Amino acid sequence: METLELKQPIGAESATEDFLPLNGTDYIELYVGNARQSAHYFQTAFGFQPVAHAGLSTGLRDRESYVVQQDKIRLVLTSPLHGDTDIGRHLDQHGDGVRVVALWVDDARRAFDETISRGATPYMEPKREQDEHGYVVRSGIYTYGDTVHVFVERTGYEGVFLPGYEPWSPTYHPAGVGLKYVDHMVGNVGWHEMNQWMTFYHDVMGFQQLVSFDDKDISTDYTALMSKVMSNGNGRVKFPINEPAEGKKKSQIEEYLDFYGGPGIQHIAVATDHIVETVLALRDRGVEFLTVPTTYYENLSDRIGKIDEEIDMLRSLGILVDRDDEGYLLQIFTKPICPRPTLFFEIIQRKGARSFGKGNFKALFEAIEREQALRGTL
Ligand code: FE2
Repeated sequence: METLELKQPIGAESATEDFLPLNGTDYIELYVGNARQSAHYFQTAFGFQPVAHAGLSTGLRDRESYVVQQDKIRLVLTSPLHGDTDIGRHLDQHGDGVRVVALWVDDARRAFDETISRGATPYMEPKREQDEHGYVVRSGIYTYGDTVHVFVERTGYEGVFLPGYEPWSPTYHPAGVGLKYVDHMVGNVGWHEMNQWMTFYHDVMGFQQLVSFDDKDISTDYTALMSKVMSNGNGRVKFPINEPAEGKKKSQIEEYLDFYGGPGIQHIAVATDHIVETVLALRDRGVEFLTVPTTYYENLSDRIGKIDEEIDMLRSLGILVDRDDEGYLLQIFTKPICPRPTLFFEIIQRKGARSFGKGNFKALFEAIEREQALRGTL
């Protein structure tokens, strides 16, 4: 149990202007082997709604993208249309995974200038895109691995997604499952690279550190990692960063790095106001979750205190609970959503707590180790 503390005193810095004001996460773009089928999966299994499409029918020749959305969470699923493309090379290297974490800004040119002047590597020069619904300005920078941040300025735009996309309105509309917004997105980086990327988010993007773990906090008999959380000024964008640490056997972070072929996004945490209903719906639709031993629930009331939910229900679904000084949170983690043991989702409900479930890390890692043992990669 730990208070949410800003590691660097924020007073001095908050007096100065936030040079990279962010309104939130704009979209997350995944490069996938089959965007059409991935879109169907996110509609059917996770309750996303179809929004927009770009491809041959909109004049693209090299790629096809489907955009799906649930409340504020917007996913773009992109596949190449022929061989020898950058998207195809990304897929060959990483498998299905997150290429773009797009951030919603009021001024994409300024976001680019401010971050480049602080040392960011350019990915996309500021670009104004226009159609009959208005214009957007986008720019982009590289972060860890092949992952990029794109800054999206859309105050001048009223179309479905971005210029170049057409509305996508199939008759198939499975109901949502109550997912509301991106709570945080976790990156795995290489051995001893965590501090370098903390520094990047602090110096280049103006983020602050929230909570620190050390490897003793979150090591099990076999696996270990280090994790720190960076947040932007208004707290709407939070990026925990993990690096592997030495354990008796292979760290789950190292397993990720091996299969992803380097650093990248490990999980996307999405928030709900009703985790029991959300998880029941996701299970009905075929989403598979990591389970913890039922012993986890035996002394849960002693550890957590009084909560609104029925412990029997949490046990039957495998939902985890953690408490900090401000309240508690409920969370559960899916199994990887692609063939490689890389990207997965977290479902989280916050009831006051602003931390990330540190008290559950050990139970979670032991669950992951059981999966690793089944995969023979422990
Ligand atoms: Fe998380």
